[in-house]
Amino acid sequence: MKTTKPELSWLTDPQVFAVNRLAAHSDHICYRTAAEAAARRTSLRQSLDGEWRFCWSPNPAARPADFWRPDADLSAFGTIQVPGHIELQGYGELQYTNTLYPWDGRAALRPPQIDWDNAPVGSYVTEFTVDEGLRGQRVCVSFQGVEQAMYLWCNGVFVGYAEDSFTPSEFDLTDCLQEGTNRLCVEVHKRCSASWIEDQDFFRFSGIFRPVYLYAKPKVHLADLWLQAGLEQDNLTGTLTPRVQLEGETEGARVTLRLTDSEGYALYEGPVTGDTLELQGVQPWSHATPTLYHAELTVTDREGTVQEVVPYDIGFRRFEMVDGVMCLNGERVVFNGVNRHEWNAERGRAIGPEDMDAAMEVFRRNNINAVRTCHYPNQSRWYDLCDRNGIYMIDETNLESHGSWQKLGAVEPSWNVPGSLPEWKDCVVDRARSMFERDKNHTAVLIWSCGNESYAGEDILAMTEFFHQQDPGRLVHYEGVFHNRDFDAISDMESRMYEKPWNIRDYLESKPAKPFILCEYMHDMGNSLGGMESYIRLAEKYPQYQGGFIWDYMDQALWHTDALGRRVLGYGGDFGERTTDYNFSGNGIVYADGAEKPAMQEVRYWYADAADRAAQDARNDAAAKAADTALAASWEARARQPLTVTEGDGNLGVKGDGFEILFSYTEGGPSSLRIGGTEWLWRAPRPAVWRAATDNDRGCGFAQRSGAWLAADALSKAGQPEVVVEAPDRVTVEYRFPLVSVPGAEAVLRYTVLDQGALEVEAVYHGVEGAPELPCFGVRFQTAAPVAATRWTGLSGETYPDRYKGADFGCFEEVPHIEPHLVPQECGLHWQTRQAVLQQRDARGRTTASLTLQSCGEPFAFSALPNTAEELEAAQHPCELPVTGRTAVTVLGASRGVGGIDSWGTDVEEAYRLDGSREYTVQFRILLR
Ligand code: GAL
Repeated sequence: MKTTKPELSWLTDPQVFAVNRLAAHSDHICYRTAAEAAARRTSLRQSLDGEWRFCWSPNPAARPADFWRPDADLSAFGTIQVPGHIELQGYGELQYTNTLYPWDGRAALRPPQIDWDNAPVGSYVTEFTVDEGLRGQRVCVSFQGVEQAMYLWCNGVFVGYAEDSFTPSEFDLTDCLQEGTNRLCVEVHKRCSASWIEDQDFFRFSGIFRPVYLYAKPKVHLADLWLQAGLEQDNLTGTLTPRVQLEGETEGARVTLRLTDSEGYALYEGPVTGDTLELQGVQPWSHATPTLYHAELTVTDREGTVQEVVPYDIGFRRFEMVDGVMCLNGERVVFNGVNRHEWNAERGRAIGPEDMDAAMEVFRRNNINAVRTCHYPNQSRWYDLCDRNGIYMIDETNLESHGSWQKLGAVEPSWNVPGSLPEWKDCVVDRARSMFERDKNHTAVLIWSCGNESYAGEDILAMTEFFHQQDPGRLVHYEGVFHNRDFDAISDMESRMYEKPWNIRDYLESKPAKPFILCEYMHDMGNSLGGMESYIRLAEKYPQYQGGFIWDYMDQALWHTDALGRRVLGYGGDFGERTTDYNFSGNGIVYADGAEKPAMQEVRYWYADAADRAAQDARNDAAAKAADTALAASWEARARQPLTVTEGDGNLGVKGDGFEILFSYTEGGPSSLRIGGTEWLWRAPRPAVWRAATDNDRGCGFAQRSGAWLAADALSKAGQPEVVVEAPDRVTVEYRFPLVSVPGAEAVLRYTVLDQGALEVEAVYHGVEGAPELPCFGVRFQTAAPVAATRWTGLSGETYPDRYKGADFGCFEEVPHIEPHLVPQECGLHWQTRQAVLQQRDARGRTTASLTLQSCGEPFAFSALPNTAEELEAAQHPCELPVTGRTAVTVLGASRGVGGIDSWGTDVEEAYRLDGSREYTVQFRILLR
């Protein structure tokens, strides 16, 4: 080993990113024997995960610079779990920031500088004795992920240095190991030149956050393996070119390969020569049939003694560009994809196998067939899962320098890195190489990605050239050329993010050379994911539209205890940090705890086959008809019973069999609705002209433009009602609400008590020229006591006009609740409802009273929530919502969609907006007996 003196100056030198680091290689696992391989337990590895000694320092000057000496006094050291982030274990500061560099406004820096006063250092120490299985061989250490730069010592000897948080850094320890106890010391720096190119939109952590292990290299060792598998045009003949790289006593050593199918039948058994094998009758690998074959390589030494056994599962497939269309096994592929950050709400990006297994289950349940490993290579297990489950992968290099070229949305690349700067080129190509070498055997990886949002230049072009030279069997992706067309050659496909459907159509109709994908679309921040249909229709019409990747899989938020001692999901800013982008990291189709958001049914639907979708539509149509007819008949059959009217000084009372209503002359509506002795109203119902702004409503400026309706919703007051008594058949009471803050606007709420035992409610808004767009129109009231459960006939789950096709039609039940978006907002709407029954229940769960709302022909939308729109609007976290003991019931005839194109400017598609100059109505009846 070369001895080198470690220098702090490496931290700010982009040309120093690896010192003594071993060459990157495939992620195969070596076993000592075939029996070990069969049991998947290798004696050639020794985990170093667990509790390490630890000291945190705010900057390099304050760090214990000599801690690596064998006799260093560690009495002032605390402890830390490896793997894990430093900031989640009580040291340093958490920070969530999107494009702005973490030090923005605090230190005037330019690449590759760092703020030496604010550059935390974690000093880690562990001790180990080498396991039996590793002794007498070369022993290396593998750090699977260390953020962001690490210096390594072993027994007082400096071993090496490495950057790149998301690929392994490995070093040979053989020459510094000793009998008995060995001491390994790692100095982890949170800031280095790499901080400029790891500017992903995520929580900024540091530390040893992926597993660490020792591994031994027997006297002959399989250092690298590439089972380059392909599929001939006939889709029956598999090709396999095994490439192996041996280390150690290679003279006379041999590698044999046994390739078997899932039944154990051997397709090949023999030496690895470097020639291409032709294998007849293979089953091609794809999402529909993710067939894998089992390869087992056996490494023997000169004497023929087995040194290592290496299992690896591979699939046969052909991924290629055919006439400007990406094809898998000869067929056009459409990515029904999702972007996925590695995330766990307790452990941040230090996720475990169970997190990956859970995510894969969600993928399988919801027809997701592709993933982009935004924005860095993931843990190897995820690739195994994708291989096995037929999930197409865009494997993305750990590169993002967003803040160096885009400033407050504007493209300003004057100091962009890496750009075409020669001093950054090796470093970014090295990142591409580290990913490529590790992941090249994974069948699921179809596309290499050069990184995310780093603008474009010679350096990224060199990454693409690297991928192409190494790997003719895959394509290269990079979105950043969108901002710099001089470097269009970087990407094999036209990739954009959040592009509007109509712009994509323009591109596709221009007879483009490259196919189109959306590396990010459907920005699922808060209550979103409306309008997905527009994108799916593009895929149906244009062969060159090859799908997209929803942004993104999981809300990134962290469980923490707030200032009042409450356990809450914290987001940016909750940890005291600034600069921050607050809840902008909450864009998942699952919440941070892994639970699916209501929008998931829409993903599942649009990502299903067209035939499955058509079958679901037909089922729903029939069920909605099996429901409308029954409802009409039950209404016709209702018996008539006379009404009695009592005219008081402040109220008009209407009584019938089992019910009593008081229409107030001053309160703008009925102040009491008693059915079977149960009072249902807390206050008189009111026009509903506001919904708690969604993240998308705020992001596109709708909430600001249409804020007048917020005041109208909260403050409008009706005058004296108009009463028409036609007792004993019917009584009509009409209230007019001038909608304050929107000049000329008025809502009319008309109540008709019918002798069929029903209160018909009709609300009308006539439309006013120049009035702002409405979020919704209808009627709302709060119940006097909490509703325990709601049963409705209509669409399953939560639905909106631009997000309901994925629902099933039927009868459903739910407990009124607020969807736990990071910031509370509009939620819980049920579009196209025929009937809703609100139930009060006793402590034993028995229904004690119920209120039935029925459509009068046209379906309505409703929600029953524990909070009003105004309460939702005011809360910053779900735990801040007041517990009122009332239920807010909203019945709508019209609602704006939730949108989903992006959350920072693009409005809901036109068809799903409510024009303030048009008329909107809603009509429904409340059954009184
Ligand atoms: C993209 C970016 C993502 C994320 C998203 C907004 O520009 O690639 O990392 O920031 O926008 O949520």
